[in-house]
Amino acid sequence: FFSSLALIVLAYLIGSISFAVLVSRCMGLQDPRSFGSRNPGATNVLRTGNKTAAALTLLGDAAKGWLAVWIALLAARHLQLPTLAVGLSAIAAFLGHVYPIFLRFKGGKGVATALGVLLALQPWLALATAATWLIVAYASRYSSLASIAAAVFAPLYYLFGGNVAWDFDTVICLCIVVISVLLIYRHHANIGRLLAGKESRIGGKK
Ligand code: G3P
Repeated sequence: FFSSLALIVLAYLIGSISFAVLVSRCMGLQDPRSFGSRNPGATNVLRTGNKTAAALTLLGDAAKGWLAVWIALLAARHLQLPTLAVGLSAIAAFLGHVYPIFLRFKGGKGVATALGVLLALQPWLALATAATWLIVAYASRYSSLASIAAAVFAPLYYLFGGNVAWDFDTVICLCIVVISVLLIYRHHANIGRLLAGKESRIGGKK
């Protein structure tokens, strides 16, 4: 039990590292929490016009999600921990990004981190989910809409790909559903703007 708990706490702490804030600070850019959507995430960093900073944020936030789950998978295998420990670590890494201890619990929306989590859980699932994001983003130019669509499809992909492309696991499936629901919930302001036709488009003016 204590090993599982330690893993979950570690995943939360790794998830708490905000690359949007770190990268912006290192590159001398404005704090992403002070402009645009005020969200510390790659999309908002992109609104500075600095594509490198946005790409580094995306990579860093995805990498931490991947790392947290990778460590959990490794530990679970060696210490014979239940799958639930891996699933809860995945959720914890995501929650770390959304409610980071280092930023007074005011974090991002978790899109890049969730993608990294999926990559560690099941690479093909991550690929299908990322492709969904890209297609919707390309067609609509709305990052938020693409994220919401990807969050809706990810659990469905996991469900339908289970026992075909990978071993299906009910616990992991439920954890993916939890992450998706939280991710969509974190987009409530975006959903309001989308419905009102006021959401900013990728590459467009604010
Ligand atoms: O990655 C978050 C994205 O889905 C929306 O970001 O800054 O437009 O709220 P933002």
